[in-house]
Amino acid sequence: MTQTGHSGETASFGFREVPRGEKQSLVRGVFDRSARRYDLMNDLMSLGIHRVWKDITITRARPRPGEHLIDVAGGTGDLARAFIARAGEKPGPAATAIVADINEEMLRAGIKRGSAEGIEWAVANAECLPFAQESADCVMIGFGIRNVTDRMQALREMHRVLKPGGRFLCLEFSRPVTRAVSRAYDLWSFRAIPELGALVAKDRDSYQYLVESIRRFPHQEAFAAEMREAGFANVKVTNLSGGIAALHTGWKV
Ligand SMILES: C[S@@+](CC[C@H](N)C(=O)[O-])C[C@H]1O[C@@H](n2cnc3c(N)ncnc32)[C@H](O)[C@@H]1O
Repeated sequence: MTQTGHSGETASFGFREVPRGEKQSLVRGVFDRSARRYDLMNDLMSLGIHRVWKDITITRARPRPGEHLIDVAGGTGDLARAFIARAGEKPGPAATAIVADINEEMLRAGIKRGSAEGIEWAVANAECLPFAQESADCVMIGFGIRNVTDRMQALREMHRVLKPGGRFLCLEFSRPVTRAVSRAYDLWSFRAIPELGALVAKDRDSYQYLVESIRRFPHQEAFAAEMREAGFANVKVTNLSGGIAALHTGWKV
């Protein structure tokens, strides 16, 4: 059996094991506290590279006019905005998107940013999506899946809402593939990121959780196996920046 982000009655919350029922509210606390500074911190922590990774994700999604996207754990809506804009470069009806996130504060921060035509914002848990079966042409989750308590349930839900022939893309931090990248990345993430969190967001603990949760997430091939187990076909992995992040893609057939 493949790993699903928990063992028995506990789930990982960073390097800690916590009662399974508590993980969701602990994660919600992290994003409640970081929502206001989320976009700025994203740029600082990744030195802006998250924008490049998201751009690659959108290119791989091949958005088309009139398509409907569900951006799960969509936060402030970067992927949804980019999907709609890219689809709009071709003639035809506008694409639409739902940004679904468990955390209202994150959605509010996204709405505040403006320019969100075609986007609906929905408070929703990835493990239990309030959307109709086979309703989306594309489902994405960006830097969200590692926060979910029952990863397999969330994968099954994302598969359920996808139309046959639809595509799924998961962008997530992953495992560096060379020792040199791994060393530099360890230094940056364990030393610099919690300091940045303390300085800019006045919240070291949330950013400590962030770097720890990345280390607890399964490596590229293990996560690809979970996607297959959830029903996705033709699963592919693309390492980004030497495996610091990875883009997993799959199809519903
Ligand atoms: C690191 S942010 C990523 C936001 C956005 N996708 C991006 O790439 O900028 C992770 C998001 O996952 C959301 N989240 C965590 N657990 C969730 C769950 N069970 N269901 C839905 N969203 C969840 C958080 O509220 C947060 O907005």
